[in-house]
Amino acid sequence: MEAVQVTDGIYWVGAIDWNIRNFHGYSTSRGSTYNAYLITGEKNILIDTVKRPFFEEMVGRIRSVIDPQKIDIIVSNHTEMDHSSSLPLMQELTGATVLASRMGVEGLRLHFPRLRTEMVKDGQEIKLGTKTLKFIDTPMLHWPDSMFTYVEEDKVLFSMDAFGQHYATTKRFDDEVDQDVLYQEAAKYYANIILLFNSQVERTIQKAKDIDIRIIATSHGVIWRKNLGKIFELYSQWSSSRTKEKAVVVYDTMWNSTRIMAEEIAEGIASEGVEVRVMKLGETDRSEVMREVLDSRAVVIGSPTLNNNLFPSVADMIYYLRGLRPTNRIGAVFGSYGWAGGAVKMAQDLLKGSGLDLPLEPYQVRFIPQEEERRKCREFGRTIGQKIKEKSVA
Ligand code: FEO
Repeated sequence: MEAVQVTDGIYWVGAIDWNIRNFHGYSTSRGSTYNAYLITGEKNILIDTVKRPFFEEMVGRIRSVIDPQKIDIIVSNHTEMDHSSSLPLMQELTGATVLASRMGVEGLRLHFPRLRTEMVKDGQEIKLGTKTLKFIDTPMLHWPDSMFTYVEEDKVLFSMDAFGQHYATTKRFDDEVDQDVLYQEAAKYYANIILLFNSQVERTIQKAKDIDIRIIATSHGVIWRKNLGKIFELYSQWSSSRTKEKAVVVYDTMWNSTRIMAEEIAEGIASEGVEVRVMKLGETDRSEVMREVLDSRAVVIGSPTLNNNLFPSVADMIYYLRGLRPTNRIGAVFGSYGWAGGAVKMAQDLLKGSGLDLPLEPYQVRFIPQEEERRKCREFGRTIGQKIKEKSVA
């Protein structure tokens, strides 16, 4: 395994996880990478590590540049296990102290009680040989411990999870990969990992504007060396909930009644000139739905009633949505039932904690939608389309 040079004296020494398809509930159909970086010079510095099963791969890449035992300092930008779980082995191999933010030190001690750590403060600079490292706290982007590390001489920002993508590839830079795939994966990553922390993103982008950045070395996916302006602009757009005139209709169905409703509602929305995407749960994973939610101004959710309850896949979707809180968007609920209802009320009540605005009463149908009920579904969709067009954009 070989290191890849990022710039003079800085190397990517991470690992490629081609096979991961589920990253704590996020479907990673293109796999992922765990990016660690080696800075060489009078002092050798390792920025983050990799998931523990990939420790040997990282060490092999380091060895292609220097003897790993010559690492003097390790920086931990983020304590989540995909980046930290190799720290104990790395410290055992090198004897190097691990630098982390105040919350990072707290988190690392709770993960690895014997790990030797040292706290660095927000804005602190340390000179290590010819390199000056500046630490920038980015709390809640996306954990309280998160920080960026910036190398002043090379204008390289190690941004941990921010600006990442779950994208396994042999290419290491943004200008080397298919651009459609890259931005699809960056959007999916934002929608599923970062969305809840929109306000912190805005603050971080403001902080980053004061820094001269030439390269953004993220912790997942490819490194940004060409289109930095574009990814900053996209983060600014996503974090301020600048959505399109678009709705996502997400549903599940037992005997096709809710499917018929979903498709009639979608037609009604589209008849207002609004883009619409229909997604059936079971066939479509919740993290794919979230990617569509990211630029949608409405989320329309449909469920049949099963055992006086929400259909399980719809309940799962709503709880996932509640966790990610897509604000400044319209929510609407529909569904079908046979002998006893209940699903639409449950959905509406649960969505009250999701951040969505709920301007409409839910629409439900008993058994199979007939012509009149299909017409009402289209009307329901048209009303949603009109509300989307009326809604001011942030
Ligand atoms: Fe890639 Fe929050 O860990």
